[in-house]
Amino acid sequence: MGKETCVLAYSGGLDTSALIPYLRENYGVEVVAALVDVGRAKDLEMLRQRALDAGAVDGVVIDAKEEFVRDFVFPALAANALYEEKYPLVSALSRPLISKKMVELAQERGAGLIAHGCTAKGNDQVRFDVSIRCLDPAIRVLGPAREWNMTRPEILDYVAARGIDIPLTKKNPFSIDENVWGRTIECGELEDPWEAPPEEAFTVTIEAAKAPDQGEEVTVGFEAGVPCTLNGERMAPVELIDTIDALGGRHGFGRIDMIENRLVGIKSREIYETPGALALVKAHKEIEDLVLTRDLLHFKRGVEQRLADMIYDGQWFSPLADALRAFVANTQTRVSGEARLLFYKGSCTVRGRRSPNSLYVEELATYGSGDRFSHESAKGFVELWGLPLEVWARRERKAR
Ligand code: ARG
Repeated sequence: MGKETCVLAYSGGLDTSALIPYLRENYGVEVVAALVDVGRAKDLEMLRQRALDAGAVDGVVIDAKEEFVRDFVFPALAANALYEEKYPLVSALSRPLISKKMVELAQERGAGLIAHGCTAKGNDQVRFDVSIRCLDPAIRVLGPAREWNMTRPEILDYVAARGIDIPLTKKNPFSIDENVWGRTIECGELEDPWEAPPEEAFTVTIEAAKAPDQGEEVTVGFEAGVPCTLNGERMAPVELIDTIDALGGRHGFGRIDMIENRLVGIKSREIYETPGALALVKAHKEIEDLVLTRDLLHFKRGVEQRLADMIYDGQWFSPLADALRAFVANTQTRVSGEARLLFYKGSCTVRGRRSPNSLYVEELATYGSGDRFSHESAKGFVELWGLPLEVWARRERKAR
């Protein structure tokens, strides 16, 4: 009998590189390292080679950028999904996709094990474990970094002792996760929530004070809830996000500094750079405000929050999340149109919006000439609207 195969969700970093010998030595398995490209990744071939050098029997690079945007990012955008009204779920969205890719690979290779490098303190372990169990309950999930109890210097010694060379080029004091939808930055000096984040933490956005004096406007076009054009030019999804992300970043927009409530009970200080995500949510909401009825908009806000929580909590593949996404998708058929955004010194402001499906009727809204609103009806309407409260108020006065 040959050794059992374990598919490893490999990032190319120190932890998942150390996992390759660790899994072999402690679990007696052969490791197939799989790198999923969800955007912003650099030199994947070099990282694949690194996995092989660390002792993986195979290294696989999976380009999933488009699938990520189409099946995960855009449905989240349709829901204006922001966890705790701030965080656009950058990592939380990529985990179910990476899980899906790992399960597909494991099934293809006849592997009964999938490993990830998440620690015990984060949300990502929850997202991987739960997603993989949803997709194939027969697969066992290993998270050795939860139990190996090694500090960073110890992990460095561990790989060095095995002749594995991980060139820690620039000493990065932060823990970073990134993809097309944004960049997450944790640890190091950020752990003191009172300390302002140092400039080195940021790579996508510049300091607002250093942004150009001249602002820049961009028109974002949506079709059925999906962004399709920038300044009238049709763009592929990944390119569109990259373009607006870079534009916002150049003007110092898109930094988030927040105290976040993790699912595992910890409050943590998180820094994000997500100019594109925040700008697109803003533009998308703007068109929704124009084309959706008041009832629908208000009801949808509740669904959006619930869905954002579920995505954060690793429930992407659950039946409830599926049903909520179906509701959101149903609301998007009329969400077409354009929003004008102005980036200027750290801000992103809506300057205008229009849609062929607009429910804005100037003759009803106007205070000028051509008014078609029925002023007489307003009087009767308000009388009946306030009637129950008036009845109550009269009774209260008598009781006093
Ligand atoms: N706090 C964020 C989240 O839970 C970011 C996590 C980043 N993950 C990482 N392994 N560095 O979604």
